[in-house]
Amino acid sequence: MTKLHRRRQRMDNAPRAPLALAAAVAALMLAQFLAPAGPANGQEQDALPAAQQTPGSLDAEQGRETFLKYCSACHNELRKVGPYLAGGAGYFVQAGLPARDFGSLLARKVRNKDATSVMPRFNPDEVSSADLDNIGYFLAQTGAGLAGLDHRNPPAPLIGSAEAGAGSYARHCQICHSPDAMGKESVPPLAPEAALMQELGLPASALHGLLLWACRSGDLEQMPVYSSGDLSDQELADIAAWLWETTPEAE
Ligand code: HEC
Ligand code: HEC
Repeated sequence: MTKLHRRRQRMDNAPRAPLALAAAVAALMLAQFLAPAGPANGQEQDALPAAQQTPGSLDAEQGRETFLKYCSACHNELRKVGPYLAGGAGYFVQAGLPARDFGSLLARKVRNKDATSVMPRFNPDEVSSADLDNIGYFLAQTGAGLAGLDHRNPPAPLIGSAEAGAGSYARHCQICHSPDAMGKESVPPLAPEAALMQELGLPASALHGLLLWACRSGDLEQMPVYSSGDLSDQELADIAAWLWETTPEAE
């Protein structure tokens, strides 16, 4: 404190006193604000309480705050920059993906920067995996609500048939995504998505959710929108099962 006072006196005489004084007062107020914090004082300010970092204890409120801070400017319902993630999350709940897996689902995008994407990459020291789990939980909860579902009690995942899926894929998707699901020109490959999900420890319902979102939501401008009459949920689960077995690694 005495040091601050001394500095303040010196600054009072300086030509740019008002600004420097404001800074000194702010520093003093910050010091006072931090002082009564008690035993936790020595901890890093932005560290999450330990209880929230253990897997299995998810905090939707924490997730909402982190989402507002880092993501919502681009991922809101206006859909001007990126897709409306809360709306999209409902498709993954519908596919039966458990709420605890949504963090890994986000990691697929948040930790990987591809050349064509404007989506920034976030490092773990900025957005930790506990943060991602909480954001995922928040999105699962919100998306389930929007879809009229309960995130704590998602529908049972549909079991897909890879054999049936090969036929449906050939009829509906291969014209754009190519027969080996490796994409072409401006059409993204789908097989590596399955491989990446497997690497992240996600179940096949995550891929089914991605297909439901891509085919039903209308969020992707160049994707045709398929109603469940055009292509049923079961057929999309079949295509997901086929892609799950056709990952580049499995060959
Ligand atoms: C500067 C804008 C911006 C910010 C900030 C941003 N994103 Fe994105 N994000 C995008 C855009 C644009 C896309 C669409 C696809 C692309 O360009 O890669 C996207 C795509 C995604 C997708 C994939 C949807 C799909 O195509 O499968 C996820 C998941 C995602 N973002 C999560 C997040 C999370 C979580 C955060 C915050 C930690 C975040 N994003 C912050 C712009 C942003
Ligand atoms: C008319 C061409 C066309 C057809 C047919 C088509 N797609 Fe797409 N698909 C695209 C394009 C282009 C994109 C890139 C996103 C965009 O810009 O719309 C895309 C994106 C996707 C994505 C998102 C990939 C990612 O990484 O986020 C998935 C999943 C997908 N398609 C699945 C399918 C499935 C399953 C079928 C068949 C039922 C299908 N698509 C049929 C053109 C097509």
